[in-house]
Amino acid sequence: MSETATVKLGDKTYDLPIVTGTENENAIDISKLRDLTGFITLDSGYKNTGATKSAITYLDGEQGILKYRGYSIEELAEKSSFLEVSYLLLYGNLPTKEQLDNFQSAISRHTLIHEDMKKFFDGFPSKSHPMGQLSSLVVSLSSFYPESLNSNQTAEEQNLTIIKLIAKMATVVSWIYKKSIGHPIIYPQNKYDYVTNFLNMTFGQRTEEIEIDPVVVSAMNTLLILHADHEQNCSTSTVRMVGSSDCNLYASIAAGISALWGPLHGGANQAVIEMLEKIKEDGGDTEKWINKAKDKNDGFRLMGFGHRVYKNFDPRAKIIKKACDEVLEKLGIDDPVLEIAKKLEAAALNDPYFVERKLYPNVDFYSGIIYRALGFPTDMFTVLFALGRLPGWVAQWKEMKENKEPIGRPRQVYIGEVNRDFVDISQR
Ligand code: SDX
Repeated sequence: MSETATVKLGDKTYDLPIVTGTENENAIDISKLRDLTGFITLDSGYKNTGATKSAITYLDGEQGILKYRGYSIEELAEKSSFLEVSYLLLYGNLPTKEQLDNFQSAISRHTLIHEDMKKFFDGFPSKSHPMGQLSSLVVSLSSFYPESLNSNQTAEEQNLTIIKLIAKMATVVSWIYKKSIGHPIIYPQNKYDYVTNFLNMTFGQRTEEIEIDPVVVSAMNTLLILHADHEQNCSTSTVRMVGSSDCNLYASIAAGISALWGPLHGGANQAVIEMLEKIKEDGGDTEKWINKAKDKNDGFRLMGFGHRVYKNFDPRAKIIKKACDEVLEKLGIDDPVLEIAKKLEAAALNDPYFVERKLYPNVDFYSGIIYRALGFPTDMFTVLFALGRLPGWVAQWKEMKENKEPIGRPRQVYIGEVNRDFVDISQR
C-alpha cells in the first residue's frame, strides 16, 4: 500500500497521507483536505468516515470478528467476567488477581447513591420509560458529585469519578426496576460481586435473603460482556462528541444513553420482543411478516436484523443464540417467541431480499428473549444494554481525553436559499 492517496481536482493533484491500523485497516487522512483544496468530504451517516484512531475495540464486519483490546469476544464471553472485561476496556490489560480484587472493592465502596436521589425516582410517573429515567438520573450524579465537573481532574480524581459511575449505575438500574413494579428498593451488599449484587438489588426481597441462581449470574455476565463496547457506534460517538466539548463524564454518558434509546440502535432489543409478540398474536405467520419487511411501502422493519458494519453474522448474536437455548433449558422455560424468532431467522437467511442486502441477526435479535427468561420486563431491556455498554462508553471517553482530541465539529454543504433581502411583515 502506498503512503499517500492522490486526489485530482481540475488540473491539480493533491497527495493525502494513508493511515494503516494494527489490523491493517486503511484510511485516507483528510484532516488537511480543506486547507489544501477548499473541498470537504460528504458522507451522510458517516458510513465511510473514521472519527478517530482507537486502541479499544476492533471489529471486522465482513469476517464477523469482534475483539476488546485484542481479546476475542468468544474467549471473553466464555472465560471472563463483566467486571474483568470492564477493567480490560478501561485500563487496557486484563487485571491480575490483586488488581481485580482492588477494582471490585473500590466499586463496592461506591455502590450507594445519595439518599436525596431517591426523590428523583418518586418524581417520575410510574409508567415512564426506564431509559428516560436512566439518562436523567445519570446526569444528575454531577449534582451530587460536583468534583466530576472539573475538566482538569488529575488521573486519580478522574478514576474515582469513573469508579463511582460504574458502581452507582447498577444501583440506579435496579432501583428503576424496583420503582416500576412498586417494590421497595434493595440496598447494595458488599459481600456480592458486581453482577450478583445487581441481580440481588433487582430481584431481591426486603423480607428474606434470596438465592441468586448461578445460571442467571453466568447468563447476565455473558450478556453484559457482549454489550460492553462496539467501537464508534451511534451512542459511543455521541459520548465522544459531548465529551469533546470538555463536558463532564456523567453528562457525556447521559447523552450516550439517550442515543442508545433509539429503536434503530439499542432500543431494538425491546422492539424485537414487541415484534415477536405481535407476530405470535397474529398467528405466527412468519412469511407474512418477512414480506412486510421487504415491502418498501410498508413501514415494518425486521427488528434485530441488519447492521451498519456486520455484513456477515454478528458474532455476539451467535453467542447469545446459543446461550438462549442453554438458559431457557436450565431454567425450564419454554418461550414460544423463541421458536418464532428461529423461524423468522431461518426464513430471512434464505430470502434473497435479506441475503442480497447482507441482513443477518444482530446482537438485539435474541438478547431480549434471555432478558425475559431472567425475569426482566421488556422496557428494561435497553437499560440493561446501557449497563453493559457503560465501561465501553467510559473507556472511549477516557481515550478521547487522553489523546487530547479536538472538539467535534463536522462541516456541511449548504443547499438553502442564497442572498434574500428582508421584507417587512406587512409586505409578505
Ligand atoms: C445496534 O453500530 C453498532 O455497532 C450498533 C450496535 C452496538 O453494539 O452498538 O451493534 C447495536 O444498534 C444493532 C442494530 C439494532 N437495530 C436494529 O435491529 C433495527 C433494524 N435494523 C435496521 O434498521 C438497520 O439494519 C440498521 C439501522 C441496523 C443499519 O442501517 P443502515 O446501515 O443505515 O442500512 P440501511 O438502513 O441503509 O439499509 C440498507 C438496506 C435498505 O434497503 P434498500 O434501500 O437498499 O432497498 O437494507 C434494508 C433497508 O431498507 N434494511 C432492512 C433492515 N435493515 C436494513 N430491511 C428490513 N428489515 C431490516 N431490519
